[in-house]
Amino acid sequence: MAGAGRMGRNHLRAIAGSAVVKVTAIAEPVASTRSLLQGADSALYGSLDDMLDTAPIDAVLVCVPSDLHLTTIKRLVDAHMPTLCEKPVGVAGSEAREAAALIDAAGLPFQVGFWRRFVPSLMRLRERIARGELGDIYAVANFQWDGAPPGANFRAHSGGIFVDMGVHEFDQTRWLVQQEFGAITSVASGIAGERWPGDPESAHAIAELSGGTTAIVSLGRRFPLGDVCKVEVFGTKDAEECKFLWPPGADDTFFGALRQQAESFARHVRGEPLQGADAHDAAAALGAAERAAAQMAGS
Ligand SMILES: NC(=O)c1ccc[n+]([C@@H]2O[C@H](COP(=O)([O-])OP(=O)(O)OC[C@H]3O[C@@H](n4cnc5c(N)ncnc54)[C@H](O)[C@@H]3O)[C@@H](O)[C@H]2O)c1
Repeated sequence: MAGAGRMGRNHLRAIAGSAVVKVTAIAEPVASTRSLLQGADSALYGSLDDMLDTAPIDAVLVCVPSDLHLTTIKRLVDAHMPTLCEKPVGVAGSEAREAAALIDAAGLPFQVGFWRRFVPSLMRLRERIARGELGDIYAVANFQWDGAPPGANFRAHSGGIFVDMGVHEFDQTRWLVQQEFGAITSVASGIAGERWPGDPESAHAIAELSGGTTAIVSLGRRFPLGDVCKVEVFGTKDAEECKFLWPPGADDTFFGALRQQAESFARHVRGEPLQGADAHDAAAALGAAERAAAQMAGS
């Protein structure tokens, strides 16, 4: 694992006890963060280079800040190391596209941390849509509302609300209805608990998809119930509301999906087909997020 901050430690919790995949080495430059890991069953390194030079590893799970994703991927491609990279794979579409080209050229196993693709209720919804049970899809309305805004340091390196949060919804929509994003309009909410220059606390996008469906993405960084996500799909035959990350079961869903994601990636490294999102999915989601951010009025 590269980077043992908030998300890296979430992955450690999710993967603990897996019979399929084990975190045997962690590269984390901040000594105080490394000290939180004492007692973990992994060798600790102060840098990615040291870990790659010394540790007998099969693959790397990248959990460094988003603006370091591309640099880290370049180093891992040089080391010919299969990689499971956290979203968004950079903070600009061009970075994700560059990463995809490097990975294609190297022919390396590579997966992106779009964990929604491993949530059982969303997988069932996707199958229902594919079987035509909902008919033709008028609209997919996605909601992601976090309990509280992230820390200042994270926020400064995250790319802003559409890139950091919205990529999940852009990927989720593409994956659910198998359509690509067309024109996107977006607006920042004028309301904020605490104003943050250049990065609104809540923002909303509405987009045309290639098959005629409309996508709606609603994002917020402050919600009384904690971190929640849901999607509503409206079709000509049926509709479904899927509150896939919602109390009281939100933690079980999140950590269960992270574990399935890591185990699926491990199987891919051993030769099975990729089940999760690839680098081109990341580039498509980040490209849509970037366009939504550029279109945003009112921020
Ligand atoms: N999939 C999800 O739902 C989800 C949720 C939260 C965060 N994330 C993603 O995870 C990534 C990390 O986010 P976070 O919240 O853990 O941030 P964080 O700031 O808490 O952690 C990042 C960690 O990386 C370490 N780091 C910095 N440079 C490094 C390097 N060169 N090599 C190794 N480690 C390095 C930092 O010291 C820090 O401990 C981001 O890209 C973010 O978008 C994904």
